[in-house]
Amino acid sequence: MPLEPIRVVVTGAAGQIAYSLLYQLAKGDVFGPDQPLYLHLLDIPVMMGVLEGVVMELMDCALPLLLGVVPTADPAEGFKDIDAAFLVGAMPRKEGMERKDLLAANVKIFKVQGQALDQHAKKTVKVLVVGNPANTNALICSKYAPSIPRENFSAMTRLDQNRAQAQLAARFGVGIDNVRNVIIWGNHSSTQYPDARFAVVTKDGGESRVADSAADAAWLQDQFISTVQKRGAAVIAARKMSSAMSAAKAACDHMRDWWLGTTGDKYVSMGVISDGSYNTPKDIIFSFPVLVKDKQWTIVQGLELDAFSVQKLQQTGQELNEEKEEALAVCQD
Ligand SMILES: NC(=O)c1ccc[n+]([C@@H]2O[C@H](COP(=O)([O-])OP(=O)(O)OC[C@H]3O[C@@H](n4cnc5c(N)ncnc54)[C@H](O)[C@@H]3O)[C@@H](O)[C@H]2O)c1
Repeated sequence: MPLEPIRVVVTGAAGQIAYSLLYQLAKGDVFGPDQPLYLHLLDIPVMMGVLEGVVMELMDCALPLLLGVVPTADPAEGFKDIDAAFLVGAMPRKEGMERKDLLAANVKIFKVQGQALDQHAKKTVKVLVVGNPANTNALICSKYAPSIPRENFSAMTRLDQNRAQAQLAARFGVGIDNVRNVIIWGNHSSTQYPDARFAVVTKDGGESRVADSAADAAWLQDQFISTVQKRGAAVIAARKMSSAMSAAKAACDHMRDWWLGTTGDKYVSMGVISDGSYNTPKDIIFSFPVLVKDKQWTIVQGLELDAFSVQKLQQTGQELNEEKEEALAVCQD
């Protein structure tokens, strides 16, 4: 029997991440090769002309799964009956802008979009926040959508996970599929903790834990972490524009695993509402290793934290608490 069509919204649809993302969504990379869909494309009024061009291109891609496209600047129309949301649209940091100002501008966008999701989207909607500060934006969005379960909101740290996995694959001289279970803890910011202590590499027919290799211990605590943390800045320095192709791919990976489930004991990192696991602050969106079944994620439990990791988790948790306080103050204005 053919699958019922779903409705998927992408905000910031005229921007550079969306330009890579939309094609992958419309050709079945995320929701499956048999899942027909409508795409809702939300951006701000001044971008409607550009968006028209994106709509033309989607049409010209001639993709059989794409049943229709709804370009709009109206959140009510953008979020109507939505099954899955990619919240990419956000204000970029302008010259001279403080981090605080950026946070203030962006959390207001996510307050409005939370309210629109609350009123117009399906209650089962899965919301992935990509726009920065992604964790705190997701928290605010969820707060203003009280009729939708908090578990349905997540923030993207999959790009960081993919970057970490790629660094390990290169270091150990294996293909990307031969590295699993690297973790990103905490905030999608420079305080994130890329943790390879539980990562497993398959090489020459055998499996080994990355952490067991003494020769790599210093590299793991030093270069590996800083390369992953600073990868976004390195791309900007080289490309003069921020990561877009890799961010779009990561958004697809995140939503596909949420929608279709993870495989076996292979976990992935998602920013989700914290229940205090691993002594993290509760009620912030914190990136944890998760497994997904039937569209529900669960935090992987029982991983042992050493003193270095405890300190890293504390640091990023504290930053998220501070962002939360700032965001709540802005939203109450
Ligand atoms: N979580 C991650 O790993 C990750 C990775 C890369 C980029 N990002 C973030 O993703 C966001 C988008 O990046 P980009 O490169 O596509 O930026 P971009 O500037 O090319 O596009 C952003 C788009 O969002 C639109 N927009 C702004 N306000 C909006 C609103 N209220 N409603 C709907 N649309 C709105 C803009 O008009 C623009 O078209 C940025 O915040 C960036 O920092 C996150």
